[in-house]
Amino acid sequence: MLEELKKRARKKFEFLSTSPLYTEELAFKISRKLNCGNVLALVGELGTGKTTFVRGLVKGLGMGKERMVKSPTFTLFSIYPASKTIYHFDLYRIDEEDFIDIGGLEYLQTQEGIVVLEWAEKVKLLLPMNTILIEFFHSEFSLRDTQKRKIVIYTPYQWEDEHFSF
Ligand SMILES: Nc1ncnc2c1ncn2[C@@H]1O[C@H](COP(=O)(O)OP(=O)(O)OP(=O)(O)O)[C@@H](O)[C@H]1O
Ligand SMILES: [Mg+2]
Repeated sequence: MLEELKKRARKKFEFLSTSPLYTEELAFKISRKLNCGNVLALVGELGTGKTTFVRGLVKGLGMGKERMVKSPTFTLFSIYPASKTIYHFDLYRIDEEDFIDIGGLEYLQTQEGIVVLEWAEKVKLLLPMNTILIEFFHSEFSLRDTQKRKIVIYTPYQWEDEHFSF
């Protein structure tokens, strides 16, 4: 299913993030492209920057420091009342069945906000075809204690490249 999203993507963007700030700023820029009804599937190992990315999205959509995005493990689901509401799921500790039990399917269909899923591969069979897939990797060339991350975005939407100039 994730492969299907890749095949269907109209655009693929690749970034080498050099710091948490870079990852946040990338998300900040992407947030401007998002519309209600969009679903973002964040996929990547522990500590690759998924939550950091969500923090950038939330800031980009106009919610400041008053409610910081928390690290996932403790919070399964948060709603951020930004200019467009963000529904943030962290699926690390749950499976597809749990996700359905907490109303996940309804959220995946909502037109009232943007849905962001960490560990989205856990619900890969449920993802809508217009899901924006974002993969996070530790840099292949360096040890884990460095700040390098590769971020690859597959979007079914026609986003322009110039939007992402740094
Ligand atoms: N380029 C980078 N982008 C994002 N985070 C980075 C980067 N370099 C270092 N970090 C650090 O890596 C950690 C990323 O943590 P974060 O919680 O965002 O990861 P995650 O993918 O959500 O992990 P988890 O799977 O546990 O939810 C943070 O401590 C952050 O400071
Ligand atoms: Mg996380």
